[in-house]
Amino acid sequence: MCGIAGYVGRRDAVATAMESLLRLEYRGYDSAGVAYATDRGIEVHRCPGKVRDLIASLEEGINAQAAIAHTRWATHGAPTERNAHPHQDCSNRFAVVHNGIIENHAVLRAQLRERGHTFTSETDTEVAAHLIEERLAPGAAPHDLARVLQSLMEDLNGSFALGVVCRDWPESIVALRHESPLILGRARTGHMLASDLPALIGRAEESWVLEDGDTVVLTPYDVVVTARDGRPRAPGWEPITLDATSAERAGYEHFMLKEIHEAPAAVRETLRGRLDPDGRVVLSELPDAVIERMKWGHVHFVACGTAYHAGLYGQRLFRSCLGRRAEASVASEFRYDEPLVDHDSVVVLISQSGETADTLAAAKEAKRRGATTVAVVNCVGSSLARTADAALMTRAGPEIGVASTKAYTAQITALAALGTTCGCECLSEDLPRLASAVETVLTGEDRIRDLAEALYRQQCFFFLGRGYDAAAAAEAALKLKEISYIHAEAYPAGEMKHGPLALIDASVTVVGICTRSDTHLKMCSNLMEARARDGRVLAVLRDDLPVPEAATDVLTLPSVAEPLMPVVAMTALQLLAYHIARLRGCAIDQPRNLAKSVTVE
Ligand code: G6P
Repeated sequence: MCGIAGYVGRRDAVATAMESLLRLEYRGYDSAGVAYATDRGIEVHRCPGKVRDLIASLEEGINAQAAIAHTRWATHGAPTERNAHPHQDCSNRFAVVHNGIIENHAVLRAQLRERGHTFTSETDTEVAAHLIEERLAPGAAPHDLARVLQSLMEDLNGSFALGVVCRDWPESIVALRHESPLILGRARTGHMLASDLPALIGRAEESWVLEDGDTVVLTPYDVVVTARDGRPRAPGWEPITLDATSAERAGYEHFMLKEIHEAPAAVRETLRGRLDPDGRVVLSELPDAVIERMKWGHVHFVACGTAYHAGLYGQRLFRSCLGRRAEASVASEFRYDEPLVDHDSVVVLISQSGETADTLAAAKEAKRRGATTVAVVNCVGSSLARTADAALMTRAGPEIGVASTKAYTAQITALAALGTTCGCECLSEDLPRLASAVETVLTGEDRIRDLAEALYRQQCFFFLGRGYDAAAAAEAALKLKEISYIHAEAYPAGEMKHGPLALIDASVTVVGICTRSDTHLKMCSNLMEARARDGRVLAVLRDDLPVPEAATDVLTLPSVAEPLMPVVAMTALQLLAYHIARLRGCAIDQPRNLAKSVTVE
C-alpha cells in the first residue's frame, strides 16, 4: 500500500528520496509524487503510474536539502496526478504525504470549505494539509508544526502517518505516526523517514521505529522525537543488519522467484535455536503460561490472505494432532462477528508485515474480550509484534514480492513448532529435515517449468485436497489468481460433487494435492470424477503414494510427516504459479490492484 520515503541531509535530497521510494514499490501503488522545499518555496511533482516515470519527469540536480516522496494506492479518488501525494494547503506553504485513511474526511472537508479553503483533489489526505494551514501561525518553528500534527490526532479518525515539508524551513521534515507505521533512518549524511525498512537498507546505518503518537522533527544534524504525552523520547537507534541484497533481486528475474528459492533458509532460520538435539522444540519467547493455555484453552487463528491460509493449517494441526478446539477466522470477519473468545482463549494472529489493519483490529478486539494474544509475525518491531501479549517471530527475512511465498513457508514452520511445543509428537523427527525436503522440490524446477508450459493457456483451475491438503489448496489457488489472473478455486476434494463438478470440462485443470495416506483412495476417486468430465488432472503427489489413475500429469513431492507436507507441496505450487504467470507476461512482483501491506480496513 502507500509508501513514504523522506530524506534530509547533505546528499541530493530528491535523488535520495526517490531511490528509497523505488524500494517501496513492492508495497503496490498506482501513482507517485515528491515534494521538496527550496528557499524559493515548495515544489511538487506527481504522476500516475510508476516511480520511474516520476523520476524521468524530474530535472537533474535539484538542489534541495529535504524531500518527501510517496507512492499512493488509491482509496479516495482515482489514481490521477491530482490525487497523487504530496498534497498542499491553499497558500502552498506545506506539502503533506499520508499513509492510512482519514475516516471523517468528508465532514472535515465540508467544514474547511465553509471556512474558505479550496480543495484540488478528492483525497482524504488533503484535509490534513488545510487543517495544518489553519493551525500553524506565521513565523512558527518546526517543533510548533510537530505540536500541530499532535493536535490532529484529536480531530482525525482513522490511521495516519504524515510527513510534511514546509517552505519556512527547507532543511526539515516533520512527521507523525498514528496507527500507521513510520521508521527513521540515521545515515552518515543525514536522516531518513520511511514507512518500511527496505527503504532504508543500504542507505542508512541505523533505524528507529516510532511509537504510535510520536512526532518527529528531522534535520540533517538532529532528530527530535516527542511522545504523545509531550515528553521527549530517548533515542532507540538499532543497527540495520540486513544487507542490500535482501532488498534486491540478486540476479533473479523477479523477487517472487528469489523468495521461493529462499524457502529453505526461511525454514532453517525459523527453527534456529528453537530445536534441541533430541528434537524438542523450545520457544523461549513464549511465556509458559501462554503455552499452558494453548494446551487446554480454545485456540483461534486469525489473519488475512496467505496468512489466513496458514491459520487454516494451524486450526487443522491443533485439532487433529492435539485434539484441541481450534478455529481459523479471516480477520475482517472476526472483528465484527461477536467472536466467541474470552479469558480462556488464545488468539494467534498471523501476519508477514505485522501492519495489516484488519489483523491489528482483530488483535485489539481479542484483547478487549480478555483473550491472550500471540503474534506469529515476520517484521520485527511491527505494530502487531508490539501489540500482542507475546510474539513468535518467523524469520523469513524481508519479503518484497506482493504474493507471499517464503513468509507462508516460515509461518507453517513456526506453527508446526508451536504445535510441537504444545504436545504434538508427530513432527519432531521431521522438522529438522524439512528444509532439505524443500530444497529437493527446488531442484525439480525444470519439471515444474515444463508443466507450466503445458498449462499456462488454461482459463480455469480447481485445487483440491483433503485435510492439510485442503488448506494448501486454498493457498495454491490464491497464489495462481494473484499473479496470473487466471480464475482459480479451491475445494475440499469431497465437496466437488456437491456443485462445482458442473463446471468441469476439457477447458478446466484440476490440481489434486495428494499427500494424505488415509484418504488417498477417496482423493483418487474425486480426481476420477473430474477426469470423467474431460478435466485435465495434475496430481501433486507425495512420492510414496500410488499414482491416481485419473492423473494426466504427475508432480511428485519428497515425503515428510504429513503435517509438514503443506510446506513441501506449496513450494512446488508457488513455483508452478510463478512460471505460469511468467509465461503469461504478468507483472509478477506487483500484481494489478494488489498491495503488499494492506493498512486500511
Ligand atoms: C495482502 C497481501 C497478501 C497477504 C495479506 C496479509 O493482501 O497482498 O499477500 O497475505 O495482505 O498480509 P500480512 O502482512 O498480514 O501477512
